[in-house]
Amino acid sequence: MTTVLAVSGSRRERSYTKRSLRVVLDTAGEMGLETKMIDLGAVDLPLYHPDRDEQGDSAELTRRVRESEAVVLGSPVYHGSYSSTFRNFHDYCSKEEFRETAVGLVATAGGGSYGPTLEHMRSTVRGVHGHTVPEQVGVRSASKKYDGDRLTDDDTRRRLEELGVAVVEEARRLHPSS
Ligand SMILES: Cc1cc2nc3c(=O)[nH]c(=O)nc-3n(C[C@H](O)[C@H](O)[C@H](O)COP(=O)(O)O)c2cc1C
Repeated sequence: MTTVLAVSGSRRERSYTKRSLRVVLDTAGEMGLETKMIDLGAVDLPLYHPDRDEQGDSAELTRRVRESEAVVLGSPVYHGSYSSTFRNFHDYCSKEEFRETAVGLVATAGGGSYGPTLEHMRSTVRGVHGHTVPEQVGVRSASKKYDGDRLTDDDTRRRLEELGVAVVEEARRLHPSS
């Protein structure tokens, strides 16, 4: 079965990034795909060290990326770029993890600017040869878009759902027999 894996690059328990990724996964689930989430706030992933092949949960986490036909990456906007948590995970991954993998991107911002974060994600995922779809979602003023766990902003929901559809279609194009 085709699997879509979301990776949330926030360490916050009640992360808006994680909540936004769930909307994308829900859409993929409704389209018949298996959905999974890696919450980087809930794993043991020490700072990447180039002299060590594996640390903490890294072998298990990279295996999960390798075995997924689609990966939706999410990061909070930190100082106009992505979070160190996201980057640390990214450094463990190579072309081997992202070969023939459809990729979707989500960034959540406390303020209004998420463009550079998505651009940085797009260009560094290109470095590991992920097939990033043109659709992407930035959520500005994230705390105003949610009432508890409920996403109240219809436009944000529509864009997250459209991203889910785009990622599933790209995964099916790359893996027609899955
Ligand atoms: C270290 C740090 C840097 C941040 N930098 C920005 C920023 O440059 N622009 C912005 O709009 N929000 C910034 N924020 C706010 C986060 O982007 C915002 O709270 C986001 O929704 C958090 O996502 P999360 O709930 O998934 O952790 C920053 C937050 C932190 C902790």
